[in-house]
Parts: sequence; C-alpha cells; structure tokens
Amino acid sequence: MQSKVTNPNISEAVIAAASAPDLGIDAQQCVMAGQPDPCMIVILGATGDLTSRKLMPALFNLYVNNGLRDPFLIVGAGRIQMDDDAYKAKMELALKESGAYDEAKWPAFALALHYRHTNFEDLESFKTLAQSLRNLDKQFQTGGNRIFYMALPPSVYKPAARIIGRVGLAAENKNGNGWSRIVVEKPFGTDLKTAEDLDESLNRDFKEHQIFRIDHFLAKETVQNILMFRFANSLFEPIWNRSYIDSIRITAVETLGVEHRAGYYEQAGVLRDMFQNHMMQLLALTAMEPPSRFEADHVRAEKVKVFRSLRPFSVDRLQDDLILGQYAAGTVDGKPAAAYREEPGVSPESFTPTFAMMKVYLDNWRWQGVPFLLTSGKRMRKKLTEISVQFKNVPHLMFRRTIEGIIPANRLILGIYPDEKITLTFQTKNPGATVCLRTVTMDFHYDQNYSGPVLDAYEKVLIDCMLGDQMLFWHQDGVELCWKFLTPILNRCETCGDQAEMLHFYEAGSMGPQAVEALK
Ligand code: BG6
Repeated sequence: MQSKVTNPNISEAVIAAASAPDLGIDAQQCVMAGQPDPCMIVILGATGDLTSRKLMPALFNLYVNNGLRDPFLIVGAGRIQMDDDAYKAKMELALKESGAYDEAKWPAFALALHYRHTNFEDLESFKTLAQSLRNLDKQFQTGGNRIFYMALPPSVYKPAARIIGRVGLAAENKNGNGWSRIVVEKPFGTDLKTAEDLDESLNRDFKEHQIFRIDHFLAKETVQNILMFRFANSLFEPIWNRSYIDSIRITAVETLGVEHRAGYYEQAGVLRDMFQNHMMQLLALTAMEPPSRFEADHVRAEKVKVFRSLRPFSVDRLQDDLILGQYAAGTVDGKPAAAYREEPGVSPESFTPTFAMMKVYLDNWRWQGVPFLLTSGKRMRKKLTEISVQFKNVPHLMFRRTIEGIIPANRLILGIYPDEKITLTFQTKNPGATVCLRTVTMDFHYDQNYSGPVLDAYEKVLIDCMLGDQMLFWHQDGVELCWKFLTPILNRCETCGDQAEMLHFYEAGSMGPQAVEALK
C-alpha cells in the first residue's frame, strides 16, 4: 500500500529540500558589471564594415541598456572626408540596417557622435586629431580616458599604434590623458615572427595592460559558461580527465563561404582564420586546470599552460593528424554555391584550405592520451558550434539485451550555436517487462527561466574594455604559444611540393571531405 502524506507542510519541506536555491541575483546586475569611467571611444576606420555592422550597433545597444556611463563620446576617425552630420546620417542608416535602431533613443545617442577626417600615415593629420580629442575631452569632461579601437586592416595596426604613441595619446595619466587603451582584432600576425613583430611594435607605446586583443568567441555567453559549468559544479570536475573521457570534439563549422573577404582569406585560410584563435580558446577553456581565482591573470595563466602542453605535430607525417579541405561547387541551404576557386578575388589555382580537421593531444597529467578533434570549415551543410565530450564505455557489460553487445557511452554536449544548450546523454531502462536500455537526454537551454537582456559578444567586449577587465582578451604569451604550435604546420602546408595532395575537395553544403573518416 502506498503511504499518503497527510501534512501539506511536510511535502513542501521535502520539495524545498530537494530543489536547489537560486542565488537570487538581479538580472540587471548580471548584465552590467561595475561602473565604467567616463570615456571617449575613438574608432580608427570609422567608415568601414566592422564599425557599421558590429561596433556601432553594439555601442547603441549598450546605450539603450544604460551600459555607457555619461559623459561618453564616440569619435570616428577615417580617411573619407565628411562632417559630423554626414557621419551621423551614415551611422543612423547602419543602425537601421542592423536592426538595432530605436527612433526614440537615437537623437540623444547621436549627440555623443563625432567624426574627424584623418590620414593614419600622416603625423600632421594625427596631431590635428589629437588636439581635437583633447578639446572634446575638455568640453565634455571625459577625463582624458580613451579607447582606440583599430577597426582597420591588420597591415595598418603597427603604423597606427605608433602614430598614436608619437602624438602623445598612448601615455597614461600624463598631459591631460587619463587611461589609454588600444583594441586590436585578430589576426595578431600571420605566424610566430610577425606576431612577435606586431607585439614589439605595440609595446613601444603601450604596456600589456593597455592592449586588448579581441577574440569575439570568448565573449559568447555559452563560451563564457564553460568555466562556470566546469568549476561551479562539483559533479563534473572529478571525471573531467583521461580516466573517464575517451575523446573531445570541438566543432565550429558554418554555411558561409569566403564572401567579400578573399583578399584576407586567401592569405589566412582556415588555420589562421579560425584555429589560431577561436579553436585554441575553446580548447583551452575545455582543458584548463581550475584557476585559484576567477580573475583575468589567473584564468589566462591557466590557459597558457594548456597551450604549452600542446604536443607538436610531426610535420613529416602531417596527414596522420590533419586533414585539409577546400570547398568545390555545391548547394547550400537549397541554393547553388560556387567553388572557392571561383569566388571573386580568389586565385583559380588557390591551395588555401577552407576546412581543417586536426587531432591534437595535450602532454600533461590530466589529458595524456585523450584526442581532441578540432574541426572548422566554411560552406558546410549547417552552422554548428559545439564541444562534445565523449565519456568512456562502462567497464563491464552486465545487461544481456544490448545492441551488438555495446552500451552507448555517456556524452555531454556544450552547444554554442545554434542550440545554446547543454545536453547529457545517458542510459535508462525502457519501460516494460524485459530489461531493455534506451538512450535519453537531460537538457538545459540557456533561455530556460530567463527573459532578461542578453549581451552580444561585441557589447560584452566593449564593456570589459571600458572597465579595463582583460579576462576575455588574449594575452601575448598565449598568442605566441599558439603560433609556435601552428607555424611549423603552416610552413609545411604552404611550402611543400605536395600541396595538391594534401588538399581534399568537398562539395559545398556537405559535411566536409571524405578523408576525415580516417581521422575520426
Ligand atoms: C571570424 C572569422 O573570426 O569568425 C570568420 O574570421 C568566421 O571567417 C567567424 O565566419 C565565425 O564567427 P561566428 O560568431 O559567426 O561563429
């Protein structure tokens, strides 16, 4: 006979004990951390694509969500001659196109927008800009605090950074300056040597704490969550190692092709475009040891240890652990897609890889022998970004009715795109009189029980830069270690006589070259 709970208070108490208490932190408090100082954001390359598509919508959204502290100023600097009004009109249009526009909020935001025609290679032109920034500082009381955002082609980073230094804008707390920060987007060089050169050049005028190297993957909510998931729960960390984990797959594939970026992509290819930065960061977050404190220096130091333990590739037997591909013509999302070699600006004989699958090992105590399979590619069947952790099989099969004597091992998927969710697969009993197993999942969706605002990756990096928080930015040590790992591979791929042999073609809209089967 079933027992009946007669006292309602008892059942409530039982339920209360069984459900975990929420930390009860107000949503708005989670969206905006700290109070940034008043400051001026100087965008170099203010009429370019990055500014219109990403930066201005991010700044506008921050303004709408009270993320910009008054007084703030946005000063666009660019080669095109135009006045403040023309620039405002251009940015208003950009906001409308991005979908961020809010008619009621625009007029007040527009008051903070300014434009200065500037030639980045001409010292006199930059001196005029510097004087103008100082005047604006005085007029609007922005305290001499400035962010220089390099929305410029990477080839101009070095001269632009130098010229900022030469006109006295890099030095902090001097000559009316408050703090001064410079933001650079990847690629940070094209190999180890050029990355060192770039850093040396930036360091002539800026100190490491002033340099913010962006990797927009790090600012994705689901990517930031990897550390919370691993280190705010005691459940997963004890089994997060070679004893329980069989392999880990890190995937970031997309349907987009090279678009209008052939000039850059022909030189970069997938290894420089995705592996040197985003893939390495996902690897580090998945594999790193717990830092003693959740602070930028501690977290970045642990990531550096992961990069240091990357097992160097045997370049003579590259194909054992690396498959490179390039998309041929095909169909993506039901539409015909041209081959990479037929894209505008791409050489018809190009050997640039648009796909790579790489098997990586970490030579350390925790991960010895566990393969990390990193995959990224353009013009694939779907856009998918995820980390899939494959656990080991159970050591002994005590259930007789299994499929071919196998019980599928547990798998944990940290979904980054399109499903922002965490899924754990495990075995349960199939209902019925016989002993049958079935695979089921436990899912957590990020929007579950949450309806508050969500920051876009660029909004998050801009806030952190205003706050001076380096947590989500690359440290030069990490940049160099990743180049150290990749440069011999790139050299071998780009200079060997059998380039054609190493490159496997795949149909646009497929899941990559057939050859990957050998690596899986
Ligand atoms: C960029 C790469 O850094 O990341 C692009 O240069 C790629 O080639 C993009 O398409 C992918 O980012 P996301 O956020 O769309 O997954």
